[in-house]
Amino acid sequence: MQLNLNGKIAIVTGGSKGIGQATALGFLEEGASVLVCARGKEALEETVRLAGKKGEGRIIGMQADLTQGEAIKAVVARCVEAFGRIDILVNNAGSARPGDFLTLPDEAWIDDWTLKFFGYMRMAREVLAHMHKQGAGVIINVAGTGGLKPMGSYMIGGSANIAVNHFTKALADEGAKHGVRVVGINPGPILTERLQKFISTFAPAGASQEEALKKMTPLGRVGKSEEVADLILFLASERAAFIHGANITIDGGSNPGLIG
Ligand SMILES: NC(=O)c1ccc[n+]([C@@H]2O[C@H](COP(=O)([O-])OP(=O)(O)OC[C@H]3O[C@@H](n4cnc5c(N)ncnc54)[C@H](OP(=O)(O)O)[C@@H]3O)[C@@H](O)[C@H]2O)c1
Repeated sequence: MQLNLNGKIAIVTGGSKGIGQATALGFLEEGASVLVCARGKEALEETVRLAGKKGEGRIIGMQADLTQGEAIKAVVARCVEAFGRIDILVNNAGSARPGDFLTLPDEAWIDDWTLKFFGYMRMAREVLAHMHKQGAGVIINVAGTGGLKPMGSYMIGGSANIAVNHFTKALADEGAKHGVRVVGINPGPILTERLQKFISTFAPAGASQEEALKKMTPLGRVGKSEEVADLILFLASERAAFIHGANITIDGGSNPGLIG
């Protein structure tokens, strides 16, 4: 299937690791140019290095803390300055922590929502203004199945994810007026640094790490970042032109509910 992403311009937030990095490298592979942003310099440099020759003149790694409104404005301005437009935004930078409800302080809720919900909302608002002028664009919000499967030990991330799902649908309604398509995805367990860090929250009690990874989905394995990236690339392409306002689950069947 030809995705025809050649020449497209994408921003991938949290594009220096995991799902974001695989997505950014996938865009390059398909001929698009990409600005990746994250806080850590080393991982950004590593991503640009991994892009190799394909990345020459087509990838920018920019340090930005997306909990800060000014940083969001700077990322969008840099993309427009360097590439002249923005065709695709992938809102992906998130790091909500699990924990015990009674001991997680207000700051944990505020900080994690500031990145995952307000970061996505602010970035979308900033980018939509450019897409509106262009009369076209695609925004993809990476939420997570934690929103569909409420757990006492993952309330911050779960509630932020479901808020992102709602925002995706509402933004689709708004975006359509400006020629902008909006889609959300809900990944289940995907083998990234983040999953390894929080494995005990999402794994069955008492399982070793290896067993836990097998038991997390009915398929007997967790997902790969590249598998999520493939879905994002398809959704960003014209091949997905009629997919709008949907939240699509990619979780190896781990969410047993009827929704998602
Ligand atoms: N992996 C899973 O199993 C899973 C499941 C469901 C949903 N998700 C969602 O998928 C998205 C990507 O997850 P992942 O597993 O790929 O995570 P990851 O491997 O931990 O990567 C997270 C990326 O976000 C960046 N980031 C974190 N805080 C940031 C901040 N304040 N400002 C800018 N960038 C920031 C990180 O770089 P720096 O730390 O250097 O800033 C990194 O590039 C997240 O939204 C996550 O909630 C993941």
